Amino acid sequence: MVERLATAASEPQAHGYPPFRGLPELRVAIAERYRSLYGVELDPETEVAVVPGTKTALVELALVLAERGNTILLPDPGYPDYPSGVALAAARLVGLRLDPASGWAPAFDEAPRDDIAAVYLNYPSNPCAVVAPPGTFADAVSFAEQTGAAVVHDLAYGDLVFDERSPESFLATPGAKDVGVEMFSMSKTYGMAGWRLGFVVGNSEIVERLDLLQDHTRAGIFTAVQEAGIAALTGPQDSVFERRDRYQARRDRVFEVLDGCAIERPVCEGSFYVWLELPEGVTVERLLTESRIALAPGEGFGPSGAGRARLSLAVTDDQLDTGLERLRRAFSG
Ligand SMILES: Cc1ncc(COP(=O)(O)O)c(C=O)c1O
Repeated sequence: MVERLATAASEPQAHGYPPFRGLPELRVAIAERYRSLYGVELDPETEVAVVPGTKTALVELALVLAERGNTILLPDPGYPDYPSGVALAAARLVGLRLDPASGWAPAFDEAPRDDIAAVYLNYPSNPCAVVAPPGTFADAVSFAEQTGAAVVHDLAYGDLVFDERSPESFLATPGAKDVGVEMFSMSKTYGMAGWRLGFVVGNSEIVERLDLLQDHTRAGIFTAVQEAGIAALTGPQDSVFERRDRYQARRDRVFEVLDGCAIERPVCEGSFYVWLELPEGVTVERLLTESRIALAPGEGFGPSGAGRARLSLAVTDDQLDTGLERLRRAFSG
C-alpha cells in the first residue's frame, strides 16, 4: 500500500482533480471484495460511493436521510460520533437500547415507529465487541419495511472477528439493499486510519444522494490514496489476518487476567475492544487516579453504558501487559 502510494504520487496524472465519485477501479475493487468475502453483489456504478473515511460518511448520511426534526435511532451504547451527524442534520436523537441479555441485540420492540428517518447499527459493535446476534439484521430489515426508516450499518470492524468467525455484511440479509446501506472503512481492516478512505455501499438511491452531496462539498480524494486503496483491496490479505490474530491474542491475555480476578468474562467476539462491567465500587476515575490505567468510561457511549468501561486492545503488547497488571491489582484490591 505504501509502495503504491509512493509510485502513484509520482505519476503526473495524480496531481489533477480526481473523478469526484472515485476511481472506477476502486469502486470495482470494493464490489469484488463484497462479492468474494461477504457474498453480496454490488453494482460499482450505482451502489458504491467512495468517502473520505466513514466518520465523514456517518454525518453526510444523516444529512441526506433526515429532514429537520425527523428521528434518527442510534444504538445505546454506541459509537460517540453518531450523535454529531444527528445534531448537524438538526434531527432528533432517540436511543435504541441494545439488550445485554440478548447479546446486545437492538430492542426494536421498545423503539418509536413514527417519523423515523434512519436507524444506525454497528456490528462488530463499538463498544460492545460482539458480532450481530442471529436475526438482528433480518429484524432491522423488517423494522425498516414497517416504518420507512433507512438502515445504516457500520461495518468498521467487520474483518476483525475472532475464533474463526467469518465476516458478515448486513447487505447479505434478504431485502437489506432495498432499505439501507453499509459503511466500510479501510481504517481498521488495513490499519489505514490516517489515510481517510472508506465506502458507503448498498441502496442506490441513498448512494446517489450521498454522491450528490459530495459533488457539492468536495472534489474527490487524492488519486494516490485511491490507488493505494486498490492495492490494499486486491493484494495479499496476510496483514489483515495478522492484525486480527494479534487483537485476538491480546483479548485472550485480557481474559486470562480477568479470570484470575474472579471477574466474569465479558463476551468479546470482534473489534479491538473489551467491554467490561466494572466491579462494585470501581470507577474509571479511580482507576485513572489511583492505578494510572485509562479506560473509556461507559457513559461516553450512551446512558446504558453506566457501570461499564471500554478497554482498548489497540496499544502495544507491552502497554497492554503493564495496564493489565495494574488492572489485576486494582480489581483484586
Ligand atoms: C464504530 C466506528 N465507526 C466508524 C469509525 C470511523 O472510522 P473512519 O476512520 O472510517 O472514519 C470508527 C472509528 O473509530 C468506529 O469505531
